[in-house]
Amino acid sequence: MQTEPTIPQAPPHIPAELIVPFDFRSDEEFSRDPHNRLDSLRTDHRAFFTPFPRGMGGQGVWVFTRADDIRAVLQDPQTFASGGLRPFAKAIGEDWTLIPVDLDPPLHSQFRTLLNPTFSPKSMKSMEAVILERADEMAAALASQQSVEFITEFARPYPVSIFLELLGLPLDEMDHFIEIEENILHNSGDAQIAAIRQLRDYLFGQIEDRRRNRGDDLISFAVYSEVAGSSLTNDEVMGICFMMFIGGLDTVTSTLGYHFMHLARHAEEQQRLRNDPSLIPGAIEELLRVYNVVTTGRRATRDVEIAGVQIREGDMLALPTSLASRDPRECPHAAKVDLDRESARHSAFGFGPHRCIGSHLARRELTAALTAWTTRLPVFRLKDGAEPRSSGSGVIALESLPLEFI
Ligand code: HEM
Repeated sequence: MQTEPTIPQAPPHIPAELIVPFDFRSDEEFSRDPHNRLDSLRTDHRAFFTPFPRGMGGQGVWVFTRADDIRAVLQDPQTFASGGLRPFAKAIGEDWTLIPVDLDPPLHSQFRTLLNPTFSPKSMKSMEAVILERADEMAAALASQQSVEFITEFARPYPVSIFLELLGLPLDEMDHFIEIEENILHNSGDAQIAAIRQLRDYLFGQIEDRRRNRGDDLISFAVYSEVAGSSLTNDEVMGICFMMFIGGLDTVTSTLGYHFMHLARHAEEQQRLRNDPSLIPGAIEELLRVYNVVTTGRRATRDVEIAGVQIREGDMLALPTSLASRDPRECPHAAKVDLDRESARHSAFGFGPHRCIGSHLARRELTAALTAWTTRLPVFRLKDGAEPRSSGSGVIALESLPLEFI
């Protein structure tokens, strides 16, 4: 029998009427349908405080529910800092930084200026052939099966293979990296700590190697770059590579999961994309709008009033991108996927200075995956009786997605 978690005490400065004990980790409705559950929070509150910690320093958080407020927070890095909120290094007693997400201005913009060209649409075009090939190979490998567990058999390994390519790492490291990813992002305690050390050691080894043998990959690029007239330190190069691991794997896996679950449940939409693949990029934007997966965090650097609530310096904020993309104030019938919608403006990649640097890469990955599945494989649907569940507070993800081919 499941026991209800004890509700933690909110700090004394939070007004009682703004306290809503919503727990991203144990809320039953959230596990069944996270996007709808998040929408329901908007109905009653523009902003509220949940005393349940959300992994950022173990504190309760303010949750913002409207698109304009979420944008305002994310576009004001002076008042709402991103630095110091992701304690991977601290967990192993070190002090390197995830670059660029854990930096604030002005250092943040110096690193973005360095990294932006590497992730531009033009640069990502050069990865297109590899991405298409990987998606195609991995889909083709499933062709003899009658059913698949989509998350473990496709959505998890596929972005890992692209990450290995980006960093110039051998593809035969795939299983090793999947295991590390599992432990860092979905485990806790000793297993998580051991995996952070493993990844750090592995990346340091690769950085040393690139200092001796320059390659044509992101690690080499960072090793031979300068910021403000100085070469990057090993810690900085490692912080960039670790960040790509944190930013570019789970997000893609999870997004693929919801997109494919939707198409598995909506045969007519899947068929439209099969009949006319030119609709795929537009469909992906609409699916990205409806199924946002990231809830990011910020820390208030001063006392401030926003969304009608008083925030105190040091308070933590949670910004669910899903609530911004599905805000009915900005988008009619926002929770509905409409492949004919004129504009699918969305927040899936965030806003402001930390907006996702990997969005062009992600779009190519999502497009290649859907193209490969709709050309290589028969129509898929949710396995009979399957009721996929979700979990996760930073990146919401399906725990599994059993599909069958018809
Ligand atoms: C569908 C897939 C993806 C989604 C939904 C997504 C979403 C996001 C969001 C919402 C942010 C903003 C975080 C914040 O403001 O705190 C972000 C930042 C970031 N993402 Fe992505 N992301 C995806 C794929 C990728 C990929 C493939 C990469 C790279 C390989 C990547 C690398 C990054 C990095 C480095 C940042 C930090 C940027 C900065 O701080 O300036 N992401 N992503």
